[in-house]
Amino acid sequence: MEIDLLSKLPRSRRDLAARRAARSPDAIERSRRFGFDYFDGPREYGYGGYRYDGRWVPVAHELVAHYRLLPGMRVLDVGCAKGFLVKDLMGACPGLDVWGLDISRYALDHAEPEAAGRLVRGDCASLPFAPAAFDLVIALDVIHNLDRAGVIQALREIERVGKGRAYLRVDSYRTPAEHEALLGWVLTARFHDGPEGWHRVFEEAGYRGDWTWTIVE
Ligand SMILES: C[S@@+](CC[C@H](N)C(=O)[O-])C[C@H]1O[C@@H](n2cnc3c(N)ncnc32)[C@H](O)[C@@H]1O
Repeated sequence: MEIDLLSKLPRSRRDLAARRAARSPDAIERSRRFGFDYFDGPREYGYGGYRYDGRWVPVAHELVAHYRLLPGMRVLDVGCAKGFLVKDLMGACPGLDVWGLDISRYALDHAEPEAAGRLVRGDCASLPFAPAAFDLVIALDVIHNLDRAGVIQALREIERVGKGRAYLRVDSYRTPAEHEALLGWVLTARFHDGPEGWHRVFEEAGYRGDWTWTIVE
């Protein structure tokens, strides 16, 4: 079901005009490498500085409460980047067995020390974990980086390694204006759709978990 468990995150500040002006095939190509440029380079290539500031702490508590996570349970954060949420989930529920996976060598090399040994390099379309290995799988703003077929494959992988409980956030839009804003903003995403389109994708993949949207306004 659709549920917003991320409401305590600070709202992203987006300068749409600046991004629109700087958005170019070169910027898109550089950001899609998910290296220094994307995380810690200028804003035109991505985050403009992806640093730990504790913003995930309340989210971690909300996830632990909502999914009734307990010590010993296993959680996977797909697209974990530098492991901020992995670290904060461990802080929110000591004894929780939290793992992260990301395709970015740069992010993993610059990860939070508390997450060391828990972050794996890999592709969300082919998760290197056993069936039903995790009690909860989280994937925030990652699977839309694949094309539609890849998104379905990633959702099937999330289903395979999980036990039916998952939480994801993906790029979407509810109005033509939001669609327009998204098109002018995104760098890395290859697939996005309105809620109806996403519902069809979830159904096609047999996805049983929860979701919320990233909307560019
Ligand atoms: C927008 S960031 C989100 C990071 C983190 N989940 C968050 O919400 O702050 C997208 C992340 O997905 C990772 N990523 C992109 N494509 C991926 C793939 N095919 N498999 C796994 N991770 C991928 C990127 O390296 C990056 O860390």
